[in-house]
Amino acid sequence: EPIMPPDLSKCHDANAPALDNHCCPPYSGSDTILEYDFPATPLRVRRPAHLVKDDQEYMDKYKEAVRRMKNLPAEHPWNYYQQANIHCQYCNDAYYQQNTDDVPVQVHFSWIFLPWHRYYLHFYERILGKLIDDDTFTIPFWNWDTKDGMTFPAIFQDAASPLYDPKRDQRHVKDGAILDLKYAYTENTASDSEIIRENLCFIRKTFKHSLSLAELFMGDPVRAGEKEIQEANGQLEVIHNAAHMWVGEPGGYKENMGDFSTAARDSVFFCHHSNVDRMWDIYRNLRGNSVEFKDKDWLDSTFLFHDENEQLVKIQDCLDPTKLRYTFEQVPLPWLGNIN
Ligand code: C2O
Repeated sequence: EPIMPPDLSKCHDANAPALDNHCCPPYSGSDTILEYDFPATPLRVRRPAHLVKDDQEYMDKYKEAVRRMKNLPAEHPWNYYQQANIHCQYCNDAYYQQNTDDVPVQVHFSWIFLPWHRYYLHFYERILGKLIDDDTFTIPFWNWDTKDGMTFPAIFQDAASPLYDPKRDQRHVKDGAILDLKYAYTENTASDSEIIRENLCFIRKTFKHSLSLAELFMGDPVRAGEKEIQEANGQLEVIHNAAHMWVGEPGGYKENMGDFSTAARDSVFFCHHSNVDRMWDIYRNLRGNSVEFKDKDWLDSTFLFHDENEQLVKIQDCLDPTKLRYTFEQVPLPWLGNIN
């Protein structure tokens, strides 16, 4: 059976010491759950973070939207920190799967990693767009698969901006340090150009190895009632972890990006995941758009979110981003090389 949404009335203290264990949303008890009405909006185009930097009009909108999200009442489901807590709820064991006493709903380490984060970003983006009344608004992607995108995106580095977060590893986010896609709290001492080359080769190999077997790229199956096991994650998730570790503080709970419970408090989280989502989209295209898993337990997995109309909705079917009405700006893929 597919993974189903939890009973929202039964949220309990998460395994989240960095947040003092608590990340449950306010619960009113009266929410009706509707099927999500897919938007009939113009196709919105996500662009690379290092290129939107000079688009003043766009940057003003982005900052204004996040500022408004931060200024919403603390209990509002769209509030910036409520939005961030969603990640904690689904990653730090705040909910158990229905009909179990101890099997957490966990959206990492399996084949639901990519779908769940796709939905999460979609709603986050739609809510930001709503807050500034712009149906075409998109969050940018951290284009870490190309040389010019392999540093921490500068748009998140202005201390006066709502996109700023002080809880980061300052050695990495300052001064154009090169992101190491194999980072795990040990500094790579190779030269910048060598790290760039290693990153591109790593991405190329990942695609090459996993093109014919989706488990390798996306993660292994997990079904209702089953606990995820960490080693079952796909290679894209492994790569994505490196950026989390590289951005978060080096000590303590590795806040914000380095800990599941706090990661989404840093706006760069969504920008990073936008590129993860893009990698999946590219993977799908390279496979001729063939469905990754024909298994109903993957296709029918269902999730709950507060949508852009403040409605609690259940959603399934995210295989084609254009159904959610977004796409990615086409930029060069320097790692693709002779992948065929
Ligand atoms: Cu839910 Cu980047 O992790």
